[in-house]
Amino acid sequence: MDHFLYRDGALYAEDVPLTDIAAAVGTPFYVYSTATLLRHFQLFDEALEGTDHLVCYAMKAASNQAILRTLAQAGAGMDVVSMGEYLRAKAAGVPGEKIVFSGVGKTAEEIRVALEGGVRQFNVESEPEMEAINTVALSLGKVAPITIRVNPDVDAKTHAKIATGKSENKFGIPIARASAVYAHAAALPGLQVVGIDVHIGSQLTDLAPFEAAYQKVADLTERLRAEGHDIRRLDLGGGLGIPYTRSNEAPPLPLDYGALIKRTLGHLGCEIEIEPGRLIAGNAGLMVSRVIYVKSGEGRDFLILDGAMNDLIRPAMYDAHHDIVPVIEPEPGVEPQPYDIVGPVCETGDTFAKGRLMPPLAAGDLVAFRSAGAYGAVMSSEYNTRPLIPEVLVNGDQFAVIRARPSFDEIINRDTIPVWL
Ligand code: LLP
Repeated sequence: MDHFLYRDGALYAEDVPLTDIAAAVGTPFYVYSTATLLRHFQLFDEALEGTDHLVCYAMKAASNQAILRTLAQAGAGMDVVSMGEYLRAKAAGVPGEKIVFSGVGKTAEEIRVALEGGVRQFNVESEPEMEAINTVALSLGKVAPITIRVNPDVDAKTHAKIATGKSENKFGIPIARASAVYAHAAALPGLQVVGIDVHIGSQLTDLAPFEAAYQKVADLTERLRAEGHDIRRLDLGGGLGIPYTRSNEAPPLPLDYGALIKRTLGHLGCEIEIEPGRLIAGNAGLMVSRVIYVKSGEGRDFLILDGAMNDLIRPAMYDAHHDIVPVIEPEPGVEPQPYDIVGPVCETGDTFAKGRLMPPLAAGDLVAFRSAGAYGAVMSSEYNTRPLIPEVLVNGDQFAVIRARPSFDEIINRDTIPVWL
């Protein structure tokens, strides 16, 4: 469910017509709905009701501080994967004790900053990393709370580039080695083992892989407890998929996911953490772009937009589908026609959709990419020296620019010319 609906013939974000935002900030831009962000967060929170839990938003999905603060004020914790994300979460007002630090390559510097600033736990991904955290913690006279991410060798049945729970992936330690690695952790005085972490992939549209993974985590919890470890917290990662089309897709609901968690792990009495990113932000954001030209090609018409692959990389990178809709609602009975929808970047890969049926469009018309709130703005770049596009947050009938479009001077002046030139 989202809050982007047609009203009086135009697409709105909550109570704001997208045409108003386009007039104020120019195109292309990202726009997020506060109500949708909160609604999605609450779905997870409610799904775990009755269980001691914390929903740690995976801020890699959309990390603007205004989004973080919106969610944090509703009670969310954060899942961060870099020093930049950690500092951004802190700047947004998230307390350290609500920040979990994930990622396979945490550096000593990142570990130090998080230990000094406060952290709920590190989700450790390897033995060398465990030792690094131990060393930094001891040097600061602190004890670092950790979970160890186990790789359950489960096929998440999602796009290969975003599956993480198979044994050949770089993530976590093999579950079969867990006893040895936990024993190693317990022997390091700078670490306090508090639980187990698992994350098997992203955009999962079936609960079965979660169930398989969580059952393995349940067995492991009992085994590790029998071996004397204090397993009191389970971080179950993120990954619940979202519908990317309006039509027939119906991924499982957070409520069913919560029921699965309670069924597979509830008897253990552990505190539960989850790290959803996409489901919270994905359908809470649109990218709005303008048609620059309609070009007739050989047997096809191209819609050339002012948004490009550098602004939304998912179609080029994962062959991802995004629904693209006109901002001005088509009159009933208008015959749609196929378009190849492309950006202006000089690569054939800068193609958002091929043969997509759209109402007839003309230069100057606005279109909106749905489901672009997660892994949209955060994955954008300035390729072709195209400025990062602005982000706008809507709340009821108000909107605010939450990241402005940089000027060309700002971009160009970031380069420095060496003395010999
Ligand atoms: N926790 C960990 C440890 C993760 O690696 C991820 C995502 C999440 C949580 C959040 O997963 P989510 O709930 O958003 O599925 N750029 C790709 C997605 C990459 C996901 C990486 N890890 C895309 O655009 O599809």
